[in-house]
Amino acid sequence: MALEKLTSARQLTLPVLEEIFHVAEQMRQVCQKHGRITLLSDKMIGLVFLEPSSRTLLSFQSAAQRLGAGIVFIQGVGSTSFEKGESLSDAIRVFSGYCDLIVARLPKSGDAQIAADASDVPFINAGDGGNEHPTQSLVDTFTIREELGTLSHLNYAFGFDPLQSRSIHSLCMVLSQFEDLGFEFVSPPELRAPKSLIQQCQERGVRVRESDRIADLHSPDVIYLNRLQEERFPDRALFEKYRYEYRLTPEQIPTSARLILDPLPRVDEIALEVDALPIAGYFRQARNGVYIRMALLSMLLGRSL
Ligand code: CP
Repeated sequence: MALEKLTSARQLTLPVLEEIFHVAEQMRQVCQKHGRITLLSDKMIGLVFLEPSSRTLLSFQSAAQRLGAGIVFIQGVGSTSFEKGESLSDAIRVFSGYCDLIVARLPKSGDAQIAADASDVPFINAGDGGNEHPTQSLVDTFTIREELGTLSHLNYAFGFDPLQSRSIHSLCMVLSQFEDLGFEFVSPPELRAPKSLIQQCQERGVRVRESDRIADLHSPDVIYLNRLQEERFPDRALFEKYRYEYRLTPEQIPTSARLILDPLPRVDEIALEVDALPIAGYFRQARNGVYIRMALLSMLLGRSL
């Protein structure tokens, strides 16, 4: 795979996706048969997480260690020289002398490209502000394909903060390459999906609808929810206005729905009663994160099984 720095889901073309899914399936076998291997035992992975994370951080740590790699990491800015005013570019330039690949979660939209440009080693965007989360889009599409057997000919509903959800942005970019799709964005009027994203999807032939209410959902096969992004609201009152209004309960799920996903963490957007339904796939989705991230680490470092 030619990919050396993954900053955007725009880089995840159909051939690249197929290759990553194939390797992720191999990595699932590795985990089941061996638990850990030595494919990357001579490599050091740098994890630079300046924004909170549980799944992405732990699944990258697990992926690196299952492949035999060492890890160096920064978690939060509090004990680092970012506190002294060091620039992201300078810091990443330095860190890339300490490791063979950098995975970074960064607080501002566009930070991932700045960091990737500064890195002398392969780089993976693990989420940059409200912009993108390309590795999550791989976990999501891998899961949909596994659960439904296809990514094409489906209607997808996305809620409830398509404006600020980087996971929704990246997933829509990847999905929009597939055939015969409908996207429905469900959100408060103030949290509509970015116009540029909708335009890109429509240019690729996706049928796009927008609605205010869960009750208006229009025959989705897949319901993809993400919490209101509390930390990105410029106005706290707006978050409080909607936080309990946008919650999926079992009674609200249309009969057409075959799969419910959420990148997690779940906060208010899915009622706990939904968890017992067979179509609630979000915990299976989270488990796939390790296989996808094992695939990415090995491929960006030019190693194969
Ligand atoms: N899905 C996801 O990115 O979760 P974390 O923020 O816990 O990493």
